[in-house]
This record gives sequence, C-alpha cells and structure tokens, in this order.
Amino acid sequence: MSSYGSSEQIQPPPMMPDAQYIETMRLNPFPQYRKMRMEHPVFYNQANNWWEVFRYNDILTVVNDTATYSSERFLPPDASQDSSNASARSILNMDPPHHHQLRDIISQAFTPRAVTQLTPRITSIVNELLRAVVTRGYIDVVKDLAGPLPLILLTEMLGIPAQDREQLKLWAHTAVNSTPMQSLLAFQHLDEYFKRIIARYRAQPGENLISALLKAQVEDQHLSEAEIVNFCVLLLFAGNETLTNLIANTLLCLDEYPAAMALLRSNLTLLPSALEEVMRYLSPVQLLVRASTVDTVLSGQKLKAGQVVFLWTGSANRDEAQFADPEVFAITRTPNRHIAFGHGIHFCLGAPLARLAAKITLGILLERFSTIKRVPDVPLKPSDNIFVYGVKSLPITLR
Ligand code: HEM
Repeated sequence: MSSYGSSEQIQPPPMMPDAQYIETMRLNPFPQYRKMRMEHPVFYNQANNWWEVFRYNDILTVVNDTATYSSERFLPPDASQDSSNASARSILNMDPPHHHQLRDIISQAFTPRAVTQLTPRITSIVNELLRAVVTRGYIDVVKDLAGPLPLILLTEMLGIPAQDREQLKLWAHTAVNSTPMQSLLAFQHLDEYFKRIIARYRAQPGENLISALLKAQVEDQHLSEAEIVNFCVLLLFAGNETLTNLIANTLLCLDEYPAAMALLRSNLTLLPSALEEVMRYLSPVQLLVRASTVDTVLSGQKLKAGQVVFLWTGSANRDEAQFADPEVFAITRTPNRHIAFGHGIHFCLGAPLARLAAKITLGILLERFSTIKRVPDVPLKPSDNIFVYGVKSLPITLR
C-alpha cells in the first residue's frame, strides 16, 4: 500500500473517472490537496458554482467570520425551525445569535466532567466487544469494535433502549445513503422516534442526556421539542462515523509506520499526542461547508453573496505554511494546532468524548496485545461519505 503522505507524482484525472480512480483518490487525496494549496488555494468550481478552500489560514478566516460566511444559508429555504426536517436545523447549521443560545444550553448537559465520568462504561464496552471476537485471533476493527462503540455509547448517553439501537442505525444510514424519498421517510421515522422518547423522559426523567436537556435552561429558556430532536439526530450523525474513523485511522497509521508504533509502545503516555497527530494526518472529517452572505474577497478571489464554500480541513491539516514536514506522521509533534475538530463557534462539542473514547480503546489494545497487524492483501475501501476519511473494513490480527 502506498504511504498516505507520499509525494507520488500527481496524475491528471482521467476524462471519465472510474470507480477505481475515485477510490484511489479517496484513500490518498493528499497529493491533490497539495497541488490545490500551491496552484488554486481558493478554487472556483465552475461546473457546480461553488468555491473550494485548501489553505489553513484561509479556512480560519472563513470559520472565524460568521457574519460573512454562514452555516445555515446554504440550507433550502423551507428548512424550517421545526423538526419536520430534523437534520437540517441542528446546532451545526445555525448562525449567531441562535447558535449561541442553543450551544449555551446544550453545553450545560454536555460538560467535559460528565464525559470523564463515562470512563468505566467506555472501558467495559470496549472489553465486551473484544471478548466477543478476540478468540478468532483477528478482528475487523470497523465492524467489531470502532463501529459499534460510538453507537452503543451515544445511544446509552441519550437514554435509548438497547433493543432500538440497530433500528436507529438503519434509519440514520438510510437518511444519508438512499433516494430522496427513502431519506425523507427515514428522517420522519427518526423524528417520530425521538418525539416518543422525549415524551417518556418528560413524564419520567432519567439519568441521561435527553432528561438533562429537558431540564437545562439559560435565562429561563428551555429547549423546544424540535431543538432536542434535532440535537439527538445530529449526535447520531456527528458522533458515530467520526469516532469510528478516528479509532480505525489510528490503527491504519500505526500499521503503516512501525517506528511510531514502537515509540508509542515504549511510552504509552504519548498516546494522547499520537491521537492528535492521527487527527491531523488522517482527519476523520475532511470537509466543512459554509455559504457567503455578502459579496466578499478571499485571498484575492471574488466570491458572490449566496455561494457555497467548501473548506477542505483535511488539506489545511497538511498545510506546509502551518506544519513543519506536514507529510510526516510524527506522534510527538508540538505544537499541533490541527483543525480536525473545526474551529471557532462550531468547534466540536464531542471532542472531549471522542478523545477519551479513542484513548481508552487504543490503550486497551496496546496493553493487551503485543502484536497488532493489518491482515495483508485485503484492499482498503474508502467510506462512501465524501465528508470523511475512513475505511469500510479493517481486518487486523491481534496476539
Ligand atoms: C473524532 C471524532 C470527531 C470529529 C473529527 C468531529 C469533527 C467535528 C467538526 C469538524 C465539527 C465542526 C463542524 C463545522 O464547523 O461546520 C464538529 C461539530 C460538532 N460535533 Fe463533532 N466530531 C467528532 C466526534 C463527535 C462526537 C463523538 C460528538 C457527540 C457526542 C460530536 C458532536 C458534535 C456537535 C454537536 C457539533 C456541532 C457543534 C456546533 O455547531 O456548535 N462530535 N465535529
């Protein structure tokens, strides 16, 4: 397998990119990112009438200027404030001042302290998942461990009964991977499901995030039912595949760079710093999106009001103007100001949870198994979701 950071020659795209070409690009977009940073850092995609931004500083300019670059403007005008289109109006797609009010309330229920208390539960989920498969001597990291972990964790945090988990996962998958009609139906199912759960916890509060959100208030304001539904749906999307990818991408990197694996094994206190380097090097989320609210200029390029702007954070995290030797995977890198969790007002609310869960999972694997190796000759298949960097399956042997 080619190195993820290799400086292979950039080939021009074929006239009709085939599936193989797209897969190769998705698994190693980094040479293309570098070319775009050098030659077209703020690129107008004429065919689609949108902009693509590749450099670190330009992306910071965009995410820091929420008046000029909106998180909600690109939504269809009918994406109303109620929950009829639950995914459309989550906190992620809101601008100030509404974003600020909602984030204040949600943050009360979603504190780093509350997350730290999850340590024993995360540990036992990881051990249970491993126990079920480890006698085989190999596991598929994605299917057996990194996939189920966030689903179990997030649904437990929300207070969703275990027997409903797989159904929720199916609706969430259908919502983003099917025809518009099927997708609409899946969103409606999610909407109705969460309304029922919210009603249950309104009548009888429990020890869970939904009950905490029902209770949380700022200046006498509670969250509406639609706001809680939207938040629950967002967690399913924002927290699942991202955390799965962080764990699987870490194993990909450590397998590709045995010296980094040896260094980490010799000093496990490097694990948090190694995870930050994975976040930078193979960022689980590669792409953010905004829309310009007014005519504006970004690094000499003239953007018109209302144009969609894609921000390639996966490229920003390899920007040579920000990181020394950006194509080198260096688990002791300091400073490491990657923007893989975003930046500014929308900075990832789940970052403490993602860091903790990945640290516990990798810590257990490294302590329990002296050999962790990718099963050779199994080709990697990239995730279908172009916003993320991840693989569909990652078989490894454990001894
Ligand atoms: C490694 C795992 C994760 C990565 C890489 C990641 C990445 C991100 C990024 C890049 C953003 C900013 C989006 C933007 O600016 O448009 C974001 C926002 C968000 N993330 Fe995460 N995320 C991860 C895990 C999680 C988890 C586990 C949760 C929930 C438990 C979560 C919940 C959220 C929420 C609620 C927001 C919206 C915050 C706001 O709009 O104010 N994320 N995440």
